[in-house]
Amino acid sequence: MKIALITGITGQDGSYLCEQLLAKGYVVHGMIRRASNFNTQRLDHLVSDPEVYNQRLFLHHGDLTDSSNLNRLLERIGPTEIYNLAAQSHVKVSFEVPEYTAEVDGVGTLRFLDAIKEAGLQKRARFYQASTSELFGLVQEVPQTEKTPFYPRSPYGVAKLYAYWIVVNYRESYGLHASNGILFNHESPRRGETFVTRKITRAAGRIREGLQECVELGNLDAQRDWGYAPEYTEMMWRILQQEQPGDYVCATNEMHTVRDFCQNAFTTVEMPLTFEGEGVDEVGRDASGNIRVKVNPQYFRPSEVELLIGNPEKARRELGWEPKVTFNDLVGIMAQADWQLARQEKAARALQQAVLQSLNLAGMGTTTKMFEP
Ligand code: NAP
Ligand code: GDD
Repeated sequence: MKIALITGITGQDGSYLCEQLLAKGYVVHGMIRRASNFNTQRLDHLVSDPEVYNQRLFLHHGDLTDSSNLNRLLERIGPTEIYNLAAQSHVKVSFEVPEYTAEVDGVGTLRFLDAIKEAGLQKRARFYQASTSELFGLVQEVPQTEKTPFYPRSPYGVAKLYAYWIVVNYRESYGLHASNGILFNHESPRRGETFVTRKITRAAGRIREGLQECVELGNLDAQRDWGYAPEYTEMMWRILQQEQPGDYVCATNEMHTVRDFCQNAFTTVEMPLTFEGEGVDEVGRDASGNIRVKVNPQYFRPSEVELLIGNPEKARRELGWEPKVTFNDLVGIMAQADWQLARQEKAARALQQAVLQSLNLAGMGTTTKMFEP
């Protein structure tokens, strides 16, 4: 029987991977962090299914900073495949919590590998590490491949660099079946709302529905190779099905600016934008001249990764992996989903307003200001 252990199962990738492995007949165990609120929203459809939850899907509290917990989980579960997706995954936040990011994203990976070795699971368990295109940072060649030298540009990138090399080291030293997926940015309607793509599609839907006036962004010139997350989690699985472990770039080989993403998303919600001005004065206006996109230096990073574009040739050749969802498809999927959410939010607000008015409490409505990096 195939038994998977997924860290970061509550995240975007963890939730898609969990669905895919269950569909392939795996028993899936997931590590979740204790939180003061419920934090399994992306898994709710699985947790509420009595034929799945506690039958083929099991959740355990844990944290990558706690070795004793990792040892216990490995001993209890005896996984055949381990997907290490847990991380403090926000690049800008890593400048604010560099030490914690190193603990979780860097040393956390070492803790896991060492726990596998000490538990004597190196022959039984295959290990996938969520490596990242942020390793390339200040890119040394275009496009980036498995052979491109690394030059990380953030505490996140540096922590992930340690994780990358410790995976290689445990593979070479102890014969672990341990692999790195060097994944370029991948997005979906489940993407966290403070990553730029989701921030834009959320804003486009809400602005279209009159729930928000404008969105403030940072560097509009940054270029990324954006793919569709479920295709990338499928690739993680393919890597672990290989007889030999290895390291693979996973990307679309297409690159677009943040501005392109905005234009495409606002067009999807039938509110095309025209950009004018430069630098911090650049704005995106709708057809009536209203400013819908502004630049706010608060969202700039101390050091920026200006461009990323990957060549997934090795994955195509060795794993038969090829992304099908194009950039336009991806923006369409996300913007349509968030437009629908905005319509629901608008309807819920109208209902709430009507109830408050009938209770004579109008004015106590919700605020839309959020704390975000
Ligand atoms: P995500 O949505 O931010 O999910 C991160 C997951 O890690 C969440 O489940 C989170 O739990 C968990 N986590 C955070 N700190 C933890 C800790 N100390 N102990 C245990 N769990 C912890 O990220 P994602 O987009 O799914 O990405 C998955 C992985 O791929 C990450 O390692 C990320 O760095 C890497 N990656 C992502 C991309 C991308 O474009 N998405 C590209 C390359 C690499 P909570 O839900 O409790 O916060
Ligand atoms: N988050 C954010 N918010 N980014 C902005 C904004 C904004 O308001 N405005 C412009 N950007 C720019 C960032 O400066 C960056 O150049 C680009 O948009 C993408 O930012 P994010 O969406 O936050 O993603 P990221 O590329 O920094 O990191 C993501 O991809 C990595 C793989 O390359 C994360 O998922 C990482 O975990 C992952 O490793």
